[in-house]
Amino acid sequence: MAFPESFIEELISRNDIVEVVESYVHLNKRSGSNYFGLCPFHNERTPSFSVNPAEQFYYCFGCGKGGGVINFIMEIENLSYPDAVANLAQRAGMKLPEDRYDPNAKKRSRLLALNRDAARFFYSQLATPEGRAGTEYLRSRGISPATANRFGLGYAPDSFQSLLKAMQALGYSEYELFDCDLIRKSSRGSFYDTFRNRLIFPIIDVRGDVIGFSGRIIGSGEPKYLNSRDTPVFNKGRNLFALNLAKKSKSGYILLSEGNIDIVSLHQAGFDSAVASLGTSLTSEQARLISRYAKEVVLAFDNDGAGQKATQRAIQIFEKLEMKVRVLQLSGAKDPDEFLKTRGADAFRLLLEASEDQIDFRMNSVRAKYDLTKDEQRVAYLKEITEMLAGLPDPVVRSIYGERAAGLAGVGKDTVIGEIERSRRGLLRRAGRSEQKAMRRPEQTAQPARSTARYRNPASAVAEEGIIRLLYLEPTLYSMKGLPPPDAFTSEELASIYRLLLSRRQSGEAVSISSLSSSLTAEEMSLLVSILQKPEQLSGSQQTMQDYIHRMEEAQAASSGSEGRDLRAIASDLRERKGYNQ
Ligand code: UTP
Ligand code: MN
Repeated sequence: MAFPESFIEELISRNDIVEVVESYVHLNKRSGSNYFGLCPFHNERTPSFSVNPAEQFYYCFGCGKGGGVINFIMEIENLSYPDAVANLAQRAGMKLPEDRYDPNAKKRSRLLALNRDAARFFYSQLATPEGRAGTEYLRSRGISPATANRFGLGYAPDSFQSLLKAMQALGYSEYELFDCDLIRKSSRGSFYDTFRNRLIFPIIDVRGDVIGFSGRIIGSGEPKYLNSRDTPVFNKGRNLFALNLAKKSKSGYILLSEGNIDIVSLHQAGFDSAVASLGTSLTSEQARLISRYAKEVVLAFDNDGAGQKATQRAIQIFEKLEMKVRVLQLSGAKDPDEFLKTRGADAFRLLLEASEDQIDFRMNSVRAKYDLTKDEQRVAYLKEITEMLAGLPDPVVRSIYGERAAGLAGVGKDTVIGEIERSRRGLLRRAGRSEQKAMRRPEQTAQPARSTARYRNPASAVAEEGIIRLLYLEPTLYSMKGLPPPDAFTSEELASIYRLLLSRRQSGEAVSISSLSSSLTAEEMSLLVSILQKPEQLSGSQQTMQDYIHRMEEAQAASSGSEGRDLRAIASDLRERKGYNQ
């Protein structure tokens, strides 16, 4: 029955929950990070059904139903788990796997260990005579030993089998090395090291596992960068270089750039929230990952045509997540590394402070396309700019920018603002039509509201919920000392969610609402999603976790010290066992 983890992950990534839900429910954009619409699972007049695009789940504040995209299809189409998976696979044009057993599951930890050992090997080369080329290169790029150390940079020797031999000596097989793309096969059938004479950047995920490598050639040559291919433990589109470091930053924003060297230089200059995509253009999954760690992103792409394009693309992706986006205009340098080298960190900081708001950036890029001294170009400009501004949800913002556009084109502001509003009504009308389509569906029978889990010890349960929320959101906490055993939880439902999260984190399996769908009951799923509704600050999460654990202990000590409460707990226990549930 179980589908391979990797299949479910791909299925989820190819079925964006907002798109799937929108084919049944008309969603409006609200301020805050959620979309809202009328709940398809109970009757209501005002929308309390929310979809969270960053975390990819839905939750109804009215009836308490919630879950990931698979739960949504199960619920709305009334399908079993495997049938809902099949439905979504068809939607995304994916073939169902023949063999539902995941042969990769056991291999994972072995491959991760191999990657870690390979990273150690590359790192250790920097201290050998062979590694001189690497250390020289680091020096020539102005990367200090401390920075190299922080990133775990290394050097792949200019030889065909040094990594292969070293890893074999540690007991790894050629097959394992091949699976990690650390060796490749020549046309004559012999294996050789993938990375040779390259500066090595290990790619480390938010859990701290080395999942792949990126190697820059020493000096010049082709290809300039060589990246690990996708492997059972590595997927380029789902990870970001240096997010393992940037997630700890206190800056409040993530700085997104393109080049590995740029990222290393930025961190070295004190900009510790810099990350880069891994030699591909930004994917929506990478954007979601970023949105978990900060609500604001600053784009610092190369100062060329390709960089501008990448910027436009990224803005659109982040806008869907309601992230605040700023764009950094590098002037007089091709990329952040060059800027830092020629102008220094202080100048970069000034640039950051002056970085443009995304609306300004888009206004300017539309403006740059037209010659506003010519009448027909002014008309074309106004047409494009009113359409762009019509898409902005906030009326005040629409009129401010409308006025600015009017000034630029030399026409009255009322005309332009009027045009924007007309265009917006058109937009909404078109959206409304899809709502009517959704309403023609047979009426869903009203569902009773989820009986709020009746907690035996509410104070402890609130802390237990906090522990679950942190464990879900922050992948490294599972290994923290002092986590309570699941038996210490006062609520059975919470204990079973906690048990599952712990075991998945420990085995390195995915933790997302959708990937948990097969292991939780609908009730547990709704409970988990409702727990995730509460905001949680992820910086300083270790301390927060400790606070929750402490509160849980205190709450339990207090309740066992008070006879009255204890009796109530026993009574409620008895009621539950007898099945008096309501
Ligand atoms: P750049 O060529 O801008 O690299 O490519 P860079 O890191 O700034 O390198 P320097 O400063 O010239 O040494 C940006 C990113 O695109 C990917 C890499 O991830 C690189 O960091 N890339 C580039 C590749 O994957 N392959 C290539 O051949 C080139
Ligand atoms: Mn570059």
